[in-house]
Amino acid sequence: MRINIRLAKRLEKVNPSSTLAITAKAKKLKSEGRDIVNFAAGEPDFDTPDFVKDAAYSAIKDGFTKYTPTTGIPELKKAICDKFRKDNSLEYESTQIVVSNGAKHSIFNALFALINKTDEVLIPSPYWVSYPEMVHLCEGKPVFMETLPKNDFKIDPRDLEKRIGPRTKAFILNSPSNPTGSVYAEYELKQIAEICAHKKVFVISDEIYEKLIYDNVKHSSIASLSKDIYNLTITVNGLSKSHSMTGWRIGYLAAPEDLAEAISRVQDHSTSNPVSISQKAALAALNAPDEFSRLMNAEFQRRRDFALERLSKIKNIGFIKPGGAFYIFIDISKLKLDSLTVASRLLEEKFVSLIPGAAFGRDDYVRMSFATSMDQIQKGLDRIEEWMGKL
Ligand SMILES: Cc1ncc(COP(=O)(O)O)c(C=O)c1O
Repeated sequence: MRINIRLAKRLEKVNPSSTLAITAKAKKLKSEGRDIVNFAAGEPDFDTPDFVKDAAYSAIKDGFTKYTPTTGIPELKKAICDKFRKDNSLEYESTQIVVSNGAKHSIFNALFALINKTDEVLIPSPYWVSYPEMVHLCEGKPVFMETLPKNDFKIDPRDLEKRIGPRTKAFILNSPSNPTGSVYAEYELKQIAEICAHKKVFVISDEIYEKLIYDNVKHSSIASLSKDIYNLTITVNGLSKSHSMTGWRIGYLAAPEDLAEAISRVQDHSTSNPVSISQKAALAALNAPDEFSRLMNAEFQRRRDFALERLSKIKNIGFIKPGGAFYIFIDISKLKLDSLTVASRLLEEKFVSLIPGAAFGRDDYVRMSFATSMDQIQKGLDRIEEWMGKL
């Protein structure tokens, strides 16, 4: 029963997740016994490694089940500093680290600590669904910067310079990107860094897919490129994708000390510490050699290559080769149907679930996740090919 509650104004602009309807429908069809091919997943299909689970069991057995410091246990924060030094050439002190309930929470906290009413946040489009909604929750204004397939869906730095205005407070960078899989090269990040440093715009650099980059390309962290940009950057990362730990809810950020301290105050009075047991699991993950992410990376590359090869033979669709993450953003503009129609029809008629591109700001695309087995990829693409052939 709905009773017309007078909600806070800040919620007026916050949309429900547009992916919900389609994923709910896929679940319903599955529960009815339909053989659904799931190309909608936003998480690796690998199990969390056993050594990580073991660390969590030990934490429980040892009674490590109480509150911890809000921003994370010191040994985890030290492991995060070590990771930044080793992987990203970034020097951070523990006082600059805040561990939160997932990278999503880290990004929200950063925005909450930075954004005043009507401040603008620049977001390259296509974008991860939650960025604009988080800006709305913080009563800021998302300003989208269209990117083009011919530029691999990456922003043109000249465009960035033009779009920065007096109210621009922050720019959200996501490399590798969800949903396009685009990866920025270091020279491109340098151009962005120079502009943001010159204009004093904060950069929220969401690097959650860092460990999933293909063709031996190296990930670059924008904060490592100059002292000026280091002082304006919030580097966000987490364990969800690198260690297949989406349900454990551990993400973290690194920022200039005063900003980290402000973010810790936000967390102090909202969620407190992330789960103590998950922190011990994250510590084990970060202290181990990178073997797990490397194996996962190799498998994802194999799947990506297979899927791209198959997709290239399907008429009337296109794509840009993703350099990272586990998504292919498929151009459906030639079908002359909107993305929700394509996703709904593929689900109802062929039992393949995809995410409509409208959720990411492009109604002429759908997002296919290849975080599923080779057999499923083959089966799903056979079905898509059949469906397209009959259109
Ligand atoms: C671009 C991007 N950033 C952040 C996240 C959130 O990750 P976490 O599970 O650490 O909250 C996701 C998850 O799908 C994502 O795609």
